[in-house]
Amino acid sequence: MTKRLAILGSTGSVGVNTLDIVQQHLDRFSVVGLAAGSNIDLLEEQMRCFQPSYVSVFDLQRAKELRERTSDLGVEIFDGTNGSCAIASLPEVDLVLSAIVGGAGLAPTLAAIRAGKDVAIANKEPLVMAGELVMREAQGRVRVLPVDSEHNAIFQALAGHNRGDVRRLLLTASGGPFRTLPGEKFGEITVHDALQHPNWRMGRKITVDSATMMNKGLEVIEARWLFGVSADQVDVVVHPQSIVHSLVEFIDGSIIAQLGIPDMRIPISYALNYPDRLANTLPALDLTRIGTLSFEPPDLNRFPCLRLGFEAMRTCGTLPAVLNAANEMTVEAFLHEQIQFNDIPAVIEETLQRHDVRPLGDGNIDIILDADRWARETASLIINCRYQ
Ligand SMILES: NC(=O)c1ccc[n+]([C@@H]2O[C@H](COP(=O)([O-])OP(=O)(O)OC[C@H]3O[C@@H](n4cnc5c(N)ncnc54)[C@H](OP(=O)(O)O)[C@@H]3O)[C@@H](O)[C@H]2O)c1
Repeated sequence: MTKRLAILGSTGSVGVNTLDIVQQHLDRFSVVGLAAGSNIDLLEEQMRCFQPSYVSVFDLQRAKELRERTSDLGVEIFDGTNGSCAIASLPEVDLVLSAIVGGAGLAPTLAAIRAGKDVAIANKEPLVMAGELVMREAQGRVRVLPVDSEHNAIFQALAGHNRGDVRRLLLTASGGPFRTLPGEKFGEITVHDALQHPNWRMGRKITVDSATMMNKGLEVIEARWLFGVSADQVDVVVHPQSIVHSLVEFIDGSIIAQLGIPDMRIPISYALNYPDRLANTLPALDLTRIGTLSFEPPDLNRFPCLRLGFEAMRTCGTLPAVLNAANEMTVEAFLHEQIQFNDIPAVIEETLQRHDVRPLGDGNIDIILDADRWARETASLIINCRYQ
């Protein structure tokens, strides 16, 4: 019996890495459903290679084109957000790999959980926006298996331990391409510069998030909800080599870490095949060649996005959803060269300051969706007024 997968975001960096693992383990995994945004060239290749029964394309026009192109395959092709949700809740699926980028992944991720599917989650933004509610829905019903390398490392380090014995979760951060760049030079950073991550090859949005260190700001919130700890139990340490993927400190002072080469196929494999490990042919980690593993505190002055992430985590309520939405809007504006690199934290901070934080109450997702909409409008208003 193979484990039957639905892969949301199959044409992205995590999606492609996941299919690479599936390709090498066709005896263990089969692909029932694929969902993507608009890249139908790659999606068609994936359909012909992995023969899913169902596919979804967010973009309606592109979905129509794909139906015409692949009419020989007899695959049912859905579209829009409902299409991604349909793929996430297919009765014949055992595990959903959630790897759409951004808040667009919230509805499909929730749909998977509500349909009783285990979810391997790379898509961190839904956990930032609504982690408390997402984990509450999952609790006792389905597994939420972390794919993000830091959270996957923590998940591995926690295995076999009593959660009550945890003192602190320590997320490592590479520091991104501007770790050593003096603050006065940040004004000169171009889109091209920001897309050069020193250690990881990833999609454009998360690569810019790594450059601003908002990625780590989002990850502290993600960690809080995934592992059910309090805000003061989550901390960040900069580790430029990206070999130690994160650490757990226990009440007796022991620290357990997970190490490995920076390759997403390792955490993806662990989540796909949990609790068993999958053999691979990746290069082994040779610590004698690495030589030095170094650690330093994050600089919250040069990287205010990380400070904003910590603040949103501590405040909770609707603030993390506002942080996420404002970040998505500003990163998009930066990638389109409408704003400068330094404007990213400035616009996000102003959006956060304008927001009246609301508690989440009994868990109605509408409060979060309202905050998300409000933050997108507000951030875009600030961008248009100030920078156009
Ligand atoms: N890349 C990594 O190594 C990594 C590591 C840890 C965590 N993550 C997280 O994993 C998620 C994916 O990251 P990524 O780097 O793989 O992103 P990516 O390369 O930009 O891929 C994003 C995927 O989402 C799809 N998509 C975008 N909007 C959609 C929508 N509205 N409906 C359906 N599909 C949509 C894209 O489809 P099209 O290509 O067709 O537009 C693509 O398949 C992010 O949340 C990121 O933070 C990534």
